[in-house]
Amino acid sequence: MENIIKNAENTHILNKSDIINLLCCNDYDSLIFKTADNIRKKFVGNDIHLRALIEFSNVCQNNCLYCGIRRSNKFVQRYTLSKSEIINYANTAINLGYKTIVLQSGESQALPSKDIIEIIKEIKKSDIAITLSLGEKSYEEYKTFREIGADRYLLRIETTDPNLYQNMHPNMSFQNRLLCLKNLKEIGFEVGTGSLVGLPNQSINSLADDILFFKEIDADMIGVGPLITHPQTPIKDSRNGDFNLTLKVMALTRILMPDINIPATTAMEAIQQNGRTIALQCGANVVMPNIMDNIHKDSYNIYPNKNFYQHSNENYKILLEDKFKAIGRKISTNKGYSLKYKDKRKDNHEYS
Ligand code: 5AD
Repeated sequence: MENIIKNAENTHILNKSDIINLLCCNDYDSLIFKTADNIRKKFVGNDIHLRALIEFSNVCQNNCLYCGIRRSNKFVQRYTLSKSEIINYANTAINLGYKTIVLQSGESQALPSKDIIEIIKEIKKSDIAITLSLGEKSYEEYKTFREIGADRYLLRIETTDPNLYQNMHPNMSFQNRLLCLKNLKEIGFEVGTGSLVGLPNQSINSLADDILFFKEIDADMIGVGPLITHPQTPIKDSRNGDFNLTLKVMALTRILMPDINIPATTAMEAIQQNGRTIALQCGANVVMPNIMDNIHKDSYNIYPNKNFYQHSNENYKILLEDKFKAIGRKISTNKGYSLKYKDKRKDNHEYS
């Protein structure tokens, strides 16, 4: 096994049975984590890209079994920020020096596409990258968002096991999820996807498929996080995802995909103290701080303990900077585009 991992450090190839063995057995975990960290350092360096997250609406038409803001959860205080509130938050992020803004919401038309278009246009007047995370939309909507300047789109596949996908996502279609990812890629977004680790009845076999799927679709960003069971969902009695297993899925993804962006997800910090810092030392190079006021943060409760810090935005950035410094890393000053397009983009100087 050791040779297989050492080999993969240079080839970035692992076959499915190797991945399964490595996920099942914990004897090689430190070697996997160290290898992922080496690859991260070699390919994407010591910079950590911060993405300012604005969760502008928790209204959602979907009923994902694990998600706290699912449609049927009647305890959620629903909100949708106005255009000017969203733009104000974006300006806060810009003034704090963030280089990317992520606009995320539940899947709905609570904020119509025409408003989203105006917001994107307004934010893009500043020199900043925009990531959208709005769920499944039509080809035409995606295309318009891209044409007016949105740079990236996040849409997790959540699981590549079609049966599990169907069980977890009533009235949704696995095929449509795949189609959306294909469309986003074709339209020219940097595409982020990823999955949840620890869904009820999720097999190690399917986690290996997830990792291979990320590579197969040539994603630009992969976010993996542990399932954190929410008490107001049908799967409230299930167990949380395992931190170490999640970390390993992430590290193996880094080994196979050396130059992509990998966030140390918020969910990792929510189930394990310093979980995000640990993730940053096992292959991750991105952190996505939520920059909203606490009142809104608390209503976007997709899982418990999501808002573990109640700092001001200014203090939080300083706190992160200190945490990064302690592990020999620093906040990036560029937009952190996917390195895959290094030679193709006009703003090449961004990479230096
Ligand atoms: N635990 C962990 N992650 C969750 N997500 C949704 N609900 C939960 C939960 N209970 C993740 C999904 C989604 C992302 C925005 O949040 O993977 O894509």
